Amino acid sequence: LRQQDPIFAMSHENGQTSWIVTKYDHVKEVLKKSSFIKDQSKFFSGSSDEEQSKILSVFRNMMLDVDPPDHTRLRKLVQPYFNPKTIKNLEPRIAEIADELLLKMKEKKGPIDLINDYAFPLPIIVISELLGVPSEDRDKFRKWSNTIVAAVDNLANTFEEDVTAFIEYLTYLFEERKDNPGDDLISKLIQAEEEGEQLNKDELYSMIVLLIIAGHETTVNLIANTMFALFEHPDQLEKLKEDFSFIETAVEEGLRYYSPVDFSTARWAEEDLEFHGKTFRRGDLVLASLSSANRDEEKFNKAGDFDITRENNPHVAFGFGIHFCLGAPLARLEGKIAIEKLLIAFPDIHLAENTSPPQFRQVFLLRGLGVLE
Ligand code: HEM
Repeated sequence: LRQQDPIFAMSHENGQTSWIVTKYDHVKEVLKKSSFIKDQSKFFSGSSDEEQSKILSVFRNMMLDVDPPDHTRLRKLVQPYFNPKTIKNLEPRIAEIADELLLKMKEKKGPIDLINDYAFPLPIIVISELLGVPSEDRDKFRKWSNTIVAAVDNLANTFEEDVTAFIEYLTYLFEERKDNPGDDLISKLIQAEEEGEQLNKDELYSMIVLLIIAGHETTVNLIANTMFALFEHPDQLEKLKEDFSFIETAVEEGLRYYSPVDFSTARWAEEDLEFHGKTFRRGDLVLASLSSANRDEEKFNKAGDFDITRENNPHVAFGFGIHFCLGAPLARLEGKIAIEKLLIAFPDIHLAENTSPPQFRQVFLLRGLGVLE
C-alpha cells in the first residue's frame, strides 16, 4: 500500500471517505496539522451534550479525543505525573514487581506463557498502583478494558453492560477516595475536580478510563512483541544477552519493528483540503498507520531488518504532535526493565517446541500476540 497507493481512500455510501495514510512523512503531517481535528461533533449533529449518554460522554471527554484548548488543560493536569524524572522514581518498584513475577514463573512447570505470566500483569500492577486501584479489583479492570478495545472491531457484545459496570465501579471508588484521600493519582484528580475549573466530572471519569486502558493494552505488546522479534532473530537475541548496554536501542527497535499500536486514533478533516494530490472533504476520517510509517524504506535504512543497535530511530510508535503518548517514559522504562530481567532470569529462553507459532490477534488498532509460549 505504501508504495502503490500511499494515501488510500475508502468510499462510503453516505458520500464520506475514509483515508489511510501510510508514508512516514505523511503520517507525521497528519498528526501534526491542526486542520485534522478530533472533535467530530462539528460534522455529525444531533448529539448535544445533554443528549449524550453517560457511556458516550466517557469517550468523548478523553484527552485523546478532544482538541485544544480542552486538550491542553487536561494534559497539563496529569503531565507532571508522567514526566521522565517522576517516572524514574518508579524504577525500584517496577524491578521488584518484575522479580516477583519471574520468581513465580521459575516455580511453574511446563511452558510459560510470557503474556499471561509476565508481559500483561507487570504494566497492570504498575498503573494500578499509580492510580490507586485496589489490587483485588484488577481482574475486573482487565475485563472492562478488553471489552472497550475489542469494541473497535464490534467484537464485544457485552460493551454496554461492561462500560456501565466500569462507570458504576468508578463512582464507588471516587466516593471512597473522597472520604479517604491517599497519595495516588485518583485522589489528586478528585481534588482537582472538587476545586472546579480544571476538570469536570465527565472528564474525571474519562481520564481514569483512558489511563486504565492505555496502561492495560499497550505495554504488554511492547514487551511481548520485542521478545517475539528477538526469538525470530537469534543473532540479535545473543547480542543483547552478551551486552545489555543495547537494551534501550533494543526496546526502541521493538517499538519500531512490531509497533504495539498499528494506527493513530481517528482524526477528521476540519475543512476541504488538498493533501499530496488528494482532496479531503470536510468531515472525512483520516487514519495514520504508525506501523507502516515505522517500516518506511525512505526514512529507515534497511527498514525491514530488526537491528537492536539501530541508532537513528525516530519511530512514531508513540504518535507525534500534541497527542504524543503521555505514558511513553513509563512504557519505555517498563519495557527495558522487563526484558533485561527476563533474559537474566532465563538465559536459555526460547519459543516452546511442538506448539503452533505465535499469532497476532486480529484486533484493529493494536498489534499484539494472543499467547507467547
Ligand atoms: C497516546 C502509544 C503506553 C497513555 C498514545 C498515542 C499512541 C500511544 C500512538 C497517540 C494516539 C493518537 O495520536 O491518535 C502507546 C504505546 C504504548 C503506550 C505504543 C506502550 C508501549 C501508554 C501508557 C500510558 C499511556 C503506559 C499511561 C499510563 C496515553 C495517553 C495518551 C496516549 C493518556 C493520550 C495523549 C494525548 O491525547 O495527549 N499512546 N502508548 N500510553 N497514551 Fe500511550
